[in-house]
Amino acid sequence: MAMLRNNPSSFVVACYPTALGLLALAASLGYGQARNSCIDCHSMLPDPLGVTQETFSHDIHAQKGLTCVSCHGGDASTDDATQSMSRKAGWKGKIDRRQIPELCGTCHSNPATMRQYDPSLRTDQLDQYHTSVHGKRLATGDTKVAVCTDCHGVHDLKTPKDPQSKVYPLNIANTCARCHADAQSMKGYSIPTDQFAKYGKSVHHAALTVQGDLSAPTCTTCHGNHGAAPPGVDKVQNVCSTCHIFQAQMYEKSSHKAAFDAASLPGCVVCHGNHDIAHPTDAKLGTGAGAVCMQCHKPGDACDRARADMLSQISQLDEAIKNADTTLAVAESAGMDVSEARLGQNAARDSLTKARVAIHSFKTDVVSQYVQAGLKVASKDLKAGQRAMVERNRRRIGLGLSLIAIAMVLAGLWLYIRKIER
Ligand code: HEC
Ligand code: HEC
Ligand code: HEC
Ligand code: HEC
Ligand code: HEC
Ligand code: HEC
Ligand code: HEC
Ligand code: HEC
Ligand code: HEC
Repeated sequence: MAMLRNNPSSFVVACYPTALGLLALAASLGYGQARNSCIDCHSMLPDPLGVTQETFSHDIHAQKGLTCVSCHGGDASTDDATQSMSRKAGWKGKIDRRQIPELCGTCHSNPATMRQYDPSLRTDQLDQYHTSVHGKRLATGDTKVAVCTDCHGVHDLKTPKDPQSKVYPLNIANTCARCHADAQSMKGYSIPTDQFAKYGKSVHHAALTVQGDLSAPTCTTCHGNHGAAPPGVDKVQNVCSTCHIFQAQMYEKSSHKAAFDAASLPGCVVCHGNHDIAHPTDAKLGTGAGAVCMQCHKPGDACDRARADMLSQISQLDEAIKNADTTLAVAESAGMDVSEARLGQNAARDSLTKARVAIHSFKTDVVSQYVQAGLKVASKDLKAGQRAMVERNRRRIGLGLSLIAIAMVLAGLWLYIRKIER
């Protein structure tokens, strides 16, 4: 058997749709369960040879009626190891890492096969894999890259929709980290191993894991799953644009877009980073810590002046909104009805958000348009608050006067009663 195992040319793909159909039919009729000497024997063997019924029952392939023989070949009807694992019976021997993608592809690249199970399932995983850095390197004999089973597992392989799957959105980063965050695995390659650590601190990771927003990006959202490759410089901002449409539309028309493209700079990533993307504040537009503009622009040049102008406009609107909020809160706690102005503040806040998005045009007049709209609303709301306070003061004076009048009447009554008593 050792000789057979070491003979790669004997790797024969034995997955014919007809055979598969028969297997599935057999399984559905209950014959599949009737005899499986592979599992009978292998469930008694120690790791790595051990595969139990319990483990395999969680595998999507087992659940769809496939058996050990579907992937490994051989004869599951005999207890004799040499017969069941004989080349004559189609047994493929030890599966080398380099053979795995093609093995999975025998079914998954075959639309006719897959259509019998789930017509909506894609059949391009192997083709895509060949275009990835993983696939290209595997083809040159580098077996340290990811193959299908590194991302999906084997023998307890689950559909990506299953929260236990290694490729369920919440688990993907860990699946990639097993290699990409491990200095030992990545030794000899020239790329860093900090992507997982950085991503773990990003707003994207927080949105996914803390807020439970499964549409927030994880590694494969940006890199692709089967065509895993870093998005090239020209594609980086396409990745961000799929979700951050408004910023992307502004940026697309800006002169930065043309200038960055010409200099082969990766768009959004220049100012936001790729793995450790944080919640930006107005300080990003400043000149101190966390600022991004001055790495290219010089103090006092036209771009710097535009930067300072945009920053001051945004700060002005931010201040105006806070002022109006404070006044409205005081009026409200004094019992005045300012609900309409309170509601109006949402429009001012909306303008501030839009102004921050409009920074991506890098034009002061575009930013100004939203700032002016916001200032108008905030100033109206501030006035409403101030009017409410004037009204409250007037009511207070009125109340005071009527209290004095009532007190005088009461005093008069008291004197009168005293006089009658006497
Ligand atoms: C009677 C027990 C027995 C039966 C039945 C049996 N196997 Fe094995 N199998 C073994 C043993 C023991 C080894 C290890 C042999 C070796 O290393 O030379 C092995 C090796 C293997 C290997 C290769 C592991 C490697 O890395 O070299 C595969 C794959 C495998 N079996 C699959 C199957 C399949 C599929 C069936 C059913 C068609 C099956 N076996 C039936 C006992 C059995
Ligand atoms: C969907 C295809 C598929 C099915 C079904 C399947 N296997 Fe495997 N099996 C593989 C692949 C691929 C490998 C190689 C995994 C690797 O090297 O990462 C493998 C590896 C093995 C090994 C060798 C483990 C080692 O590390 O040397 C054994 C033994 C084995 N399978 C037995 C079984 C038995 C028994 C069954 C049925 C219960 C089964 N397999 C069902 C695809 C399959
Ligand atoms: C003998 C044919 C065959 C082989 C070989 C095979 N698969 Fe499958 N695979 C299937 C079938 C059939 C399904 C069930 C499709 C369905 O109904 O969802 C499936 C389902 C899957 C799913 C779940 C798809 C989903 O969204 O539900 C994944 C992931 C998967 N296989 C990966 C692999 C990997 C990785 C390998 C190689 C180790 C492999 N398969 C080998 C036939 C095969
Ligand atoms: C680098 C990790 C990685 C590798 C390598 C990989 N996959 Fe996947 N695969 C994924 C992820 C992530 C998903 C989930 C996609 C989703 O949720 O939309 C997936 C989904 C799938 C699906 C479900 C249908 C689909 O396309 O969404 C199948 C089937 C599948 N992979 C088969 C394979 C096969 C076959 C190979 C090897 C040729 C392979 N995968 C290699 C990560 C990987
Ligand atoms: C089994 C280990 C392993 C796993 C798991 C793995 N990778 Fe890789 N990956 C590698 C190796 C090794 C390279 C080659 C490094 C190189 O290109 O310099 C690589 C290359 C890459 C590259 C190209 C880097 C470059 O610029 O050359 C990207 C992008 C990538 N992997 C993303 C992922 C993602 C995303 C996942 C998870 C879905 C993942 N990988 C899972 C081992 C792995
Ligand atoms: C929000 C999108 C995004 C997410 C999420 C993301 N990446 Fe990246 N990744 C990028 C960009 C952009 C680059 C840089 C590409 C360039 O400059 O051409 C990159 C580069 C890489 C590289 C190449 C080496 C390097 O560091 O420059 C690897 C490997 C990689 N990422 C793996 C991962 C892994 C693993 C995860 C999950 C833990 C992940 N990425 C999450 C966008 C992302
Ligand atoms: C799959 C969708 C998706 C992709 C792709 C994506 N993001 Fe995000 N991004 C989100 C989600 C969801 C949030 C969190 C929502 C929030 O807090 O506003 C977020 C948050 C952000 C934030 C913080 C916003 C804030 O107000 O705090 C920035 C900055 C950001 N992303 C930049 C990028 C960049 C740059 C890229 C490309 C490298 C990118 N994103 C790719 C979905 C995505
Ligand atoms: C030249 C630098 C620069 C580039 C390029 C850039 N941004 Fe920004 N971005 C900023 C600054 C500065 C802020 C902070 C605005 C604030 O809070 O005052 C910001 C804020 C954001 C925010 C937070 C929400 C908001 O609008 O306040 C998101 C999301 C965002 N950018 C996405 C992107 C995307 C997507 C791209 C690429 C299409 C991109 N950015 C390109 C500088 C840049
Ligand atoms: C990676 C370098 C780089 C960074 C970072 C950068 N810029 Fe620029 N900026 C440029 C280049 C190059 C041009 C184009 C100059 C030209 O066309 O003459 C430019 C042009 C501009 C313009 C003129 C736009 C027009 O349409 O007239 C403004 C305003 C500007 N940048 C503001 C900013 C602000 C604000 C930031 C920070 C949020 C920033 N830049 C960050 C390189 C950069």
